[in-house]
Amino acid sequence: MEGHDLNHRGNWGSKIAFIFAATGSAVGLGNIWGFPMMVSRNGGAVFVLVYILAVVFIGFTVMLAELAIGRHTQKNPVGAIEQIKPKSPWKLIGYLGILTGICILSFYAVVASWAVGYLVKTASGAFRGELNSEITDQIFTSFTANPFQVIFYFTIVLGITTFIISKGVKKGIEKWTKVLMPLLFLLIIFLAIRALMLPGAEAGISYYLKPDFSKFNGTVVLYALGQAFFSLSLGMGTMLTYGSYISKSDNLVTSAGWVSFADTIIALLAGLIIFPTLFAFQGVPSEMGGEGLVFKVFPLIFSKIPGGLIFGTLFFTLLVVAAITSTISLLEVPVAYAIDERKWSRQKAAIIMGIIAFILGIPSALPSGGVAFFTQIKFLGNMFFIFGNLSLAVGALLICIFVGYVWGVKKAIQEITSGDRPFRMKSLWVFSVKFLSPIAIIIILYFIKTIAG
Ligand code: PHE
Repeated sequence: MEGHDLNHRGNWGSKIAFIFAATGSAVGLGNIWGFPMMVSRNGGAVFVLVYILAVVFIGFTVMLAELAIGRHTQKNPVGAIEQIKPKSPWKLIGYLGILTGICILSFYAVVASWAVGYLVKTASGAFRGELNSEITDQIFTSFTANPFQVIFYFTIVLGITTFIISKGVKKGIEKWTKVLMPLLFLLIIFLAIRALMLPGAEAGISYYLKPDFSKFNGTVVLYALGQAFFSLSLGMGTMLTYGSYISKSDNLVTSAGWVSFADTIIALLAGLIIFPTLFAFQGVPSEMGGEGLVFKVFPLIFSKIPGGLIFGTLFFTLLVVAAITSTISLLEVPVAYAIDERKWSRQKAAIIMGIIAFILGIPSALPSGGVAFFTQIKFLGNMFFIFGNLSLAVGALLICIFVGYVWGVKKAIQEITSGDRPFRMKSLWVFSVKFLSPIAIIIILYFIKTIAG
C-alpha cells in the first residue's frame, strides 16, 4: 500500500496507529456524557443490557462492514460507493453520512465546549470545599446560561479541530491518541473504584446493573441501538473513511474487535462512576436524564478525593482530548469527500466544513429560555436524536443492505480476509449483516412513530 496516494490522502503509520485513531474516534463524549445520560433516561440496567447486545450483534457487524468498504476502495464514503456500484443511488449513503457528520459535529462541539468550560472552572478551584448536588446543579445552569462563554469555548474547540484536520490524518490524529487514551482509561478506573467505595453507593450499583425488566420497551431498544452506533462512530462513514487509510496487511476483524471492546469498557466504567456517586449524594436522585448529568455529578466525586483539584483538572483535560479525537473524525468525513471528489485542498476543505459546523452549532450553544425552538437543551437534544440516533441507524441499515446484497458478502469477505487473515466468525457475521442487523433496525425504525409519540 506504500504507493497509494500517500501524500494526498495519507495512511496510518501502523496497525496500532489505526486502532488508536479509531478508538480515539469512538471514545469520546458519547461514552462519558451520552451513555450515562441514556441509561438514566431509559430505565437503568435494562438499557445497559440491551446496549451490550446491540454492540456485540449489530455494532460490531456494521463496523466490520464499514472497514471492509473503506479499505477495499481507499476512498471517502461517496467515492467508495461510486467505485463499487457506479452511477447508482446508493451513493446517497455517502451524502447522508457527510450531512450527518457535519450536523453531529455542530452539537457535539457544543458539549465539548462545556467540558472546556469545566476544565477551566475545575482548575481555577470552582469546585473546592463541601459540594452537594444543589450547588453543582446551580453551577451548570448558570454556566450554560451564558452564551458568550459557551460560544467562546465552542469556537476554540472547532478551531482546534479544523487546525488538526487541515494538517492531515497521520500527523494530526495519531499523535494525540497514543499517550492520552491510555491515561484516560487509567484515570477512569481509579475514579470508578473511588465511587464504588462511597457510602450509599450500593443503590446506584443496583440501579445500574440489576435489570428491572418492567422498564423494557421499544424506546429502550431504539435508544440503545442509536447509542451503540453513536458511541462506536458508525452509520455515517467515519469507520469507512478511517478504514480507507488502513494497510492491506492489517487484520480487520481483530481491529474492529479491539475498538468495540475498548469503547464499550469505557462507557460501562463511566456509568460505574456516575450512578454510585449520584445515589450516594442524593439518596434518590432528582436529576436524571438531563444533558447536564455528567457535569453535575463528576465534580461531586472530585470533592471526595484528596487532590480533587488535580484529578478533576486532569479528568476534564482528558475528556476534552477524547472529545477532540472524536470531533476530528467527524470533520474528516466531509473533508475526505471534498478532497477526493471536489479536488479541494485539505486546508480549504477543513476550513469551509468547519465554518458550516460552526454556524449550525450556534443554536445548540444558546442558553435555555428564549424562543422555544432555540431553547438550547431542546435544540441540542433534537439534533442528537435526529442525527446522532436516527440518521446513524438509517445509515447503518443502508450499509448492511449495501454490503449484504449489492456489493455482496463474498467480496466483502475477500477484503476482510485479504492477506490470508483468518475470519472465524464468518457465518455469524454474514447472518448479521444480511438478516439480523437490517431486520432489527427496520423493526425499530418502523415503530418509531409510536415510540416518539
Ligand atoms: N463516537 C463518538 C463518541 O462517542 C462520537 C462520534 C459519532 C464520532 C459518530 C464520529 C462519528 O463520542
